[in-house]
Amino acid sequence: MDRTLLRRLTEETTALPTLPLVASRLVEAVARMDAETTESVARILALDPGLTARTLRLANSDCYGFPRKVGSVELAVLVLGPGTIRDLVLTASVVQTLGPDGRAMTDLWNHAMACGVAARALAERTQYPLLGEAYAAGLLHDIGAVLLRQKDPQRFEAAIALADTQRMPLEEAERGLFGSDHSEVGGWLAERWGLPGEIVEAIACHHHPEVAVRSPELTALVHIADSLADRAGYSWTPLRAPQPLSAYAWESVEPDPSRREALLDGLAEVVVREAERERELFAEFRRAQEEDAWPSPQRV
Ligand SMILES: [Fe+2]
Ligand SMILES: [Fe+2]
Repeated sequence: MDRTLLRRLTEETTALPTLPLVASRLVEAVARMDAETTESVARILALDPGLTARTLRLANSDCYGFPRKVGSVELAVLVLGPGTIRDLVLTASVVQTLGPDGRAMTDLWNHAMACGVAARALAERTQYPLLGEAYAAGLLHDIGAVLLRQKDPQRFEAAIALADTQRMPLEEAERGLFGSDHSEVGGWLAERWGLPGEIVEAIACHHHPEVAVRSPELTALVHIADSLADRAGYSWTPLRAPQPLSAYAWESVEPDPSRREALLDGLAEVVVREAERERELFAEFRRAQEEDAWPSPQRV
């Protein structure tokens, strides 16, 4: 399989999973975050009866403890917040679209969710204003790996084995065997899903944040969040020695080198807590299907 073929495979409408329209429209609506956000989120949600039902159930659940019954989508959006709904719908749509096939992918999905909350925590700390973008980019940063594995599981396993035995970065092994790597493929996929260009770039450049031109800050956040997720115990490649973090990415997250270790240690606890919370919300959101689709995170 060479790079051109892989790109074609990624772009083929029939072969490529498309992100449900509702999720991409929510990503757009929440990105604008103006006075009409709540209203437009409610309108978009109402397009999908299943999502509407889940949103109402969540707004009425103990997780929120709202004092009276939430009967309308508009009120549910107010109670939960448009950002929370966007994150949940995006997660649910990605899982549904590329679903974890069996336990092999569980670690990767747990890593993805932990990276999402890590990127959001870092964004908060660095006052990066678009917390939802940070979560989405973190959640999706390794989505290309899911696709590569789906297209050719044996070759993907061979790339992992090659990276482990040769102690080389996984992307290098993937390029040797696929002609491309999971970050590039993830970028193609996100582009095809119509996600904002900033998120596309953060996914495509998460291993080389210094080449980002459109969203260097977001890309730097995801790069650090990736390693923070590993440190918090949500690694999907536990055998591999951690790659050194980019000094360039650190500049926009914590310019003082002597404070970086403490920052990662402090935030690792936050990531564990938030990943648990996110998982609970998501479980409530998906209810019955959740158990097979997304087993409890196994920390390593
Ligand atoms: Fe990656
Ligand atoms: Fe990762």
